Amino acid sequence: MTKPHILQMGAYPAWDVEALEERFVLHRYFEAQDKQAFVAEHGANIRGIATRGELGASKELIEALPSLEVISVYGVGFDAVNLDAARARGIRVTNTPDVLTKDVADLALAMMLASSRDVVGASAWVRSGNWAGQGNYPLQRRAFGKRAGVLGLGRIGFEVAKRLAGFDMDIAYCDVSAKDFAGDWQFIDSARDLAARSDFLFVTLTGGAATRHVVDREVIDALGPEGMLINVSRASNIDEDALLSALEERRLGWAALDVFEGEPRINPRFLALDNVLLQPHQASGTVETRKAMGKLVHDNLVAHFDGAPLLTPVI
Ligand code: 8YV
Repeated sequence: MTKPHILQMGAYPAWDVEALEERFVLHRYFEAQDKQAFVAEHGANIRGIATRGELGASKELIEALPSLEVISVYGVGFDAVNLDAARARGIRVTNTPDVLTKDVADLALAMMLASSRDVVGASAWVRSGNWAGQGNYPLQRRAFGKRAGVLGLGRIGFEVAKRLAGFDMDIAYCDVSAKDFAGDWQFIDSARDLAARSDFLFVTLTGGAATRHVVDREVIDALGPEGMLINVSRASNIDEDALLSALEERRLGWAALDVFEGEPRINPRFLALDNVLLQPHQASGTVETRKAMGKLVHDNLVAHFDGAPLLTPVI
């Protein structure tokens, strides 16, 4: 049986590459110096794309691959895949929902705690000898019992809120409508009003055009100088320029961010700030979850080429 040719958009762990290579011929797009020449050479044979959430597949790329049938995303977010271009050609798209939800929620909580207790700075204090030389670390801010807002009560937002309940937080959320599974969490129908009543605002929205810059200057100012913004979703959900100015001018207290415009080359203005915790888009980055994500990427591609139903279709 001839192996279908797949365009691989970004690096995967070795175990995923091994499994994919048993069934497919992989073309490593991300390693090609001249992408256009690479597509010109291999494009006609490519029947599938294996990509990652943040890399997606552009309209130009989809249109340059005449034999493309399926795009398998390693990630729950598919906002970087041009769905219109895929739909127009009947190209199927899959993602990896559910398997990563709890790890993403765990990191969101870890970021809240690390930032409010300055775990990173305190560790450096010990390592540098300052503890012995200068004494105890400056006092930090409490997390438990405070007011938490969850912007986007989808799968990830729900798991974040569940964990916050364990910290005795006063929880509210904002979504397009109230959710019947939200129990006694308060529904607030505007992001601004949610921010205004929150000490910690978690952004767990889906990425894409509909949610672009939902967190704008007004929302950031409503959160205010005592507030913390935590983003484990997509950078595009926040007006990053407004965020940077607010952090620089201390109109916003703190931010803890896993995602950035133009990542991994982030805006250098972040690096000059001491009120932001920076994470390298690693919310789903545990061995267990990444193995489950890689298996879904593989199994969706296999299902497609075997003519079986897709496991987790987007379209
Ligand atoms: C990335 C993500 O895909 O699930 C998503 O949408 O953004 C992540 O899980 C991950 O960083 C792999 O590249």
